[in-house]
Amino acid sequence: MIRSTRNSILTFVHASREECERALAAEIAECVARSPFAVFGWATGSTPIGLYRELASLHAAGRLSFARASCFNLDEYLDLPAGHPHSFATWMREHLFAHVDFARAHTHLPDVHAPDPEQAASRYESAIAQAGGIELQVLGIGRNGHIGFNEPGSTRDTRTRVVELAESTRVDACRTFGSLDAVPRRAITMGVSTILAARRIRVLAFGRAKAAVVHALLHDAVSAECPATFLRGHPGVELHVDAEAAG
Ligand code: PGA
Repeated sequence: MIRSTRNSILTFVHASREECERALAAEIAECVARSPFAVFGWATGSTPIGLYRELASLHAAGRLSFARASCFNLDEYLDLPAGHPHSFATWMREHLFAHVDFARAHTHLPDVHAPDPEQAASRYESAIAQAGGIELQVLGIGRNGHIGFNEPGSTRDTRTRVVELAESTRVDACRTFGSLDAVPRRAITMGVSTILAARRIRVLAFGRAKAAVVHALLHDAVSAECPATFLRGHPGVELHVDAEAAG
């Protein structure tokens, strides 16, 4: 593992994805061991799958318990029926919640089935604040620079809200949904400022497809054109990449 700081972002280039996942899982286990009521922020997508597998195996080995912890997911699709197989709620159940011991009432995703999604978004923002804020946020980055579903054009002051998905995000989601028509057009996402309020942010990026956006995060001007660049200057952010994403 090589450690360096670029533009105020502490960057770890790991020899493999697995090394990175073990390191982050160990940090999460240590965090919850020290603060059992810790609040975590989770991401979905292909990037964090191995991390969640590692958390599940630490739990199975009796080395990690989320029994008193709570968590908030970054985002959720709007306009899918409840229980849809490609909703992030289903995804989180399959990849994490079924394998660890969070109390169900302590796992939160935006309420995309509420009659008024904008109100549901503000309630989500308040619920995070009432829980004491997020201690550690796990974050992927989209190839277009999005964090959560804060697509290009999202400003630093954005809060949890209803957003339209960028075309490139919907094209990337075709892998999961099978066709572009099946991919939702809207979501509720934590805003950029909601994410920046987390005390620790752990950004993960793996594979050659992420090399360009990792470069932009570390070197481009800070701008809403690449919302990930707003992470620069956050005192608790770390970027964890494999050699391919490091370019
Ligand atoms: P991915 O998505 O993990 O599936 O690459 C990352 C993101 O869009 O935030």
